[in-house]
Amino acid sequence: MIRIEGISKEFKEGIGSKRVKAVEDLTLEVHKGEVFGFLGPNGAGKSTTIKVLINLIYPDKGECWINGKDVRERETRRHVGYLPENPFFYDYLTAEELLWFGGKASGMSSAAIKERTDELLTKVNLQSARKRQLRTYSKGMVQRAGLALALIHDPEVAIFDEPMSGLDPIGRKMVGDLIMELKGQGKTVFFSSHILSDIERFCDRVGIIVGGKLRVVDRVDSLLSGGTTLEDIFLKEVEKAGGGAAV
Ligand SMILES: Nc1ncnc2c1ncn2[C@@H]1O[C@H](COP(=O)(O)OP(=O)(O)OP(=O)(O)O)[C@@H](O)[C@H]1O
Ligand SMILES: [Mg+2]
Repeated sequence: MIRIEGISKEFKEGIGSKRVKAVEDLTLEVHKGEVFGFLGPNGAGKSTTIKVLINLIYPDKGECWINGKDVRERETRRHVGYLPENPFFYDYLTAEELLWFGGKASGMSSAAIKERTDELLTKVNLQSARKRQLRTYSKGMVQRAGLALALIHDPEVAIFDEPMSGLDPIGRKMVGDLIMELKGQGKTVFFSSHILSDIERFCDRVGIIVGGKLRVVDRVDSLLSGGTTLEDIFLKEVEKAGGGAAV
């Protein structure tokens, strides 16, 4: 359902400064109906990979496909729901209006948007705040509004960049329930995180990225079957790579 093939991306941090290899020759496949966790320390290249995957930035090399279509084709976005790392919305909108614009941008009918808005705002527990402007929301509330927006058009593939970040335990459980519900509907979920317990709880498979390189891809249950913890595996990979961030 998701195919990332040999992508690399370098950034130049400033005039005359050295180049940063944010992602290096990364190849990965996520199957339909799977929940895939993308784990890595700060600066590992998770967000960069995700931005390439949804065609927000272009890779120096490599290609990505979603649902058999090249992500550079406009049509591909129809099937994808994306939650950015730091959702930032026009904050004079209410949650209801945000979803309205999102739905319209996806070509939904007014009736379908209304129905879906009700359903999603209930799920993310924002019904009572739906008529309030986003500027009055807490960080966790904005995050939850972002999740609802990502799912307004009922996408086949959900790509969430740290969906649990900034959420309290109730919010994290809510996101976990939402992810499991999507899986139950046969949707594909790809999410990044550095919260090991969330990966253990919700993911079928995990990919560990450190320093721009994908170090491990495996089923979570087989990784943990030897009695090791995901934390052990994660820390070992970070150590092997000589630290967390890309250099
Ligand atoms: N626009 C940019 N310009 C310059 N460098 C960038 C840019 N975006 C990312 N980088 C660098 O690329 C590397 C990977 O960053 P990325 O945001 O992909 O990491 P991440 O795994 O998402 O980290 P975090 O867990 O902190 O969100 C970092 O060294 C970062 O400084
Ligand atoms: Mg990131």
